[in-house]
Amino acid sequence: MKLELVSLLLTSSLVIAGKCGTQTCGKDTPCCVKGYCNNNAMYCAPFSCEPENSFGTKSCWTTAHCVDSVADFTKPAGPHFAQIASYQGEPQTAAYVSQYEPSNAKLANEQLELSLVKQPDGKGFGAVVIGTRAIQYGTVTAVVKSGCKSGGVVSSMIIRNDKIGDEIDFEFVGADKSTVQSNYYWHNELDYTKMVKSHPLPDTTANYHTYQIVWSPDTIQWKVNDQLFRTVKRSDTWDAAKGVFKYPEAEAFISFSIWDGGSGAKGTSDWAGGPINWSASPFNLAVKSIAVNCYYKGNETTYKKHN
Ligand SMILES: *[C@@H]1O[C@H](CO)[C@@H](O)[C@H](O)[C@H]1NC(C)=O
Ligand SMILES: *[C@@H]1O[C@H](CO)[C@@H](O)[C@H](O)[C@H]1NC(C)=O
Repeated sequence: MKLELVSLLLTSSLVIAGKCGTQTCGKDTPCCVKGYCNNNAMYCAPFSCEPENSFGTKSCWTTAHCVDSVADFTKPAGPHFAQIASYQGEPQTAAYVSQYEPSNAKLANEQLELSLVKQPDGKGFGAVVIGTRAIQYGTVTAVVKSGCKSGGVVSSMIIRNDKIGDEIDFEFVGADKSTVQSNYYWHNELDYTKMVKSHPLPDTTANYHTYQIVWSPDTIQWKVNDQLFRTVKRSDTWDAAKGVFKYPEAEAFISFSIWDGGSGAKGTSDWAGGPINWSASPFNLAVKSIAVNCYYKGNETTYKKHN
């Protein structure tokens, strides 16, 4: 024990190991995520790893910052997608990874497909595909067909910082195939009243549409097929009581997901139109391409306070 502790002190620049929930991450499983320690990409990649709770502050893999890119999933293989088990923390090998195991995301039918699969308990188990580079402001454009062919199924395109709880999103619900919903959150404040629906769209589960989020330091814009349907100004997010702009500004990761909203809490299930009618399956969220234009490029993308 004593020797172990000595070597621990010598090998880590940080002498106080962080608490990871009820665990303390050691050097063999140094990365903390939500109370669990491990040493693989699911735990160490910067989109989930908690530096302050890990073995050392440098245990989490380095955050790679935004570069302009187009991930074309019509191509069978390449540096645009990998399963997380094969990801080693080098974003040039995979711009996007399937975040969880078992993975229900794969390249098939000239697209990236995220599937919602029925489990023995009757609930759906979905998938999350997440970008391996962080973005702080920029434009994200994706060609997408929603997987929400039944009420209860939710598909989404999200720019989110999971630790701070800032988020900008598009969400599709099976209850409504003729619009997409836009929303944003600041510091995990669950204010659902900020949701705004798009203009009417031809069935989002039968057609590919181009969804775009234009995120700048002053405005967020949501567009579908080049048509702007919503603008949020940072100046309009001022909370006078708290003295803060409730505007997403933390660097974040781009993700796509499909999940079972129908077996969740009543409010969520009602919103999603649940429970799921499994006769309408398969439920596949299909992504043809994701284009990213960074506001700050390369190493310039770091967390900056905006005054
Ligand atoms: C469930 O989905 C099937 C296939 O789409 C459809 O025929 C059926 O009417 C649906 N059932 C309900 C209750 O909506
Ligand atoms: C980022 O920093 C690294 C290490 O200092 C350097 O090798 C790389 O060229 C930089 N990239 C950009 C885009 O500035």
